Amino acid sequence: MVDEQARPGRVLITGAAGGVGTILRGGLAALGWSVRGFDLVTPAEPDSDPDTGPVSDAVEWIIGDITDPAAIEAAMADVDVVIHLAGIPVEDHFAAILHANIDGTHQVFDAAVRAGVPRVVYASTNHVVGYYERADFTDTKLGVGARPRPDTLYGVSKVFGEALGSYYHDRHGLQVACARLGACYAEPHTRRMLDTWLSPADAVRLFHALATAPDLGFELVFGASANRTGWCDLGPARRLGYHPQDDSERFRDRFADQPLDPDDPEVRYLGGDFTTALPPA
Ligand SMILES: NC(=O)c1ccc[n+]([C@@H]2O[C@H](COP(=O)([O-])OP(=O)(O)OC[C@H]3O[C@@H](n4cnc5c(N)ncnc54)[C@H](O)[C@@H]3O)[C@@H](O)[C@H]2O)c1
Repeated sequence: MVDEQARPGRVLITGAAGGVGTILRGGLAALGWSVRGFDLVTPAEPDSDPDTGPVSDAVEWIIGDITDPAAIEAAMADVDVVIHLAGIPVEDHFAAILHANIDGTHQVFDAAVRAGVPRVVYASTNHVVGYYERADFTDTKLGVGARPRPDTLYGVSKVFGEALGSYYHDRHGLQVACARLGACYAEPHTRRMLDTWLSPADAVRLFHALATAPDLGFELVFGASANRTGWCDLGPARRLGYHPQDDSERFRDRFADQPLDPDDPEVRYLGGDFTTALPPA
């Protein structure tokens, strides 16, 4: 359940035209947020609320590049919270990761301080801990305090983003929440996603909670639905007001015929086949 006491304000969503951005644009607007989208491109899909469907004219739109310091600072005028999603969400060549995820994320945090925005919610990923082995988390959950074991250069860039958030909090007093997102799609596409699935409606609940949690300092949380076989500890997110309502279990039968070879990276590692992913040719 969304905390009805929390007061939405104006949110800037970077990467708002992408998959997660499309979920959040409509979902947060439906909760009363004034949404400003920022992206290299305009959205391919209309804004929609995961529960109630299309929401028209809900979003102010700015075309821009997060690596352009003036453009991203200007986009933050009168903003209460930045949700930073923009970047490359999979493995890629280091030069591309360096530009979009490392330089770009630095520009976003730095612009937030210059623009006087009090809070940034940063989209990290479970691929910062992708090299942990699934077999070690059958009886216990992986906590956010475990040392990062990124499974890709993409995951490394997200460890950097989390560290940037910590630095901007300690040095500049910025309120920062880093959400290590699981697989945020309408439905799980693989058996591993049964563990990591973050439903669209729960994604809205998560980001709304992180955007409105009182007395935020620096927080690191895992973001997934209440999946029966989830391996990440949702405690830190729940303490900030996140109450997931969905569970991937209803999709399990779909993957019943997929073999469970313990040596298959998709089965062995928390990061699955990201542990063998290569940049595009
Ligand atoms: N989708 C998931 O399941 C998932 C899981 C874990 C983490 N994440 C993280 O969430 C964020 C969003 O993921 P997504 O799946 O929506 O990705 P996506 O590729 O669908 O969207 C990313 C958006 O960022 C924009 N973008 C890229 N570089 C930019 C730049 N320099 N300036 C402005 N905009 C730029 C792209 O145009 C795109 O619209 C990413 O940071 C990703 O790492 C996503």
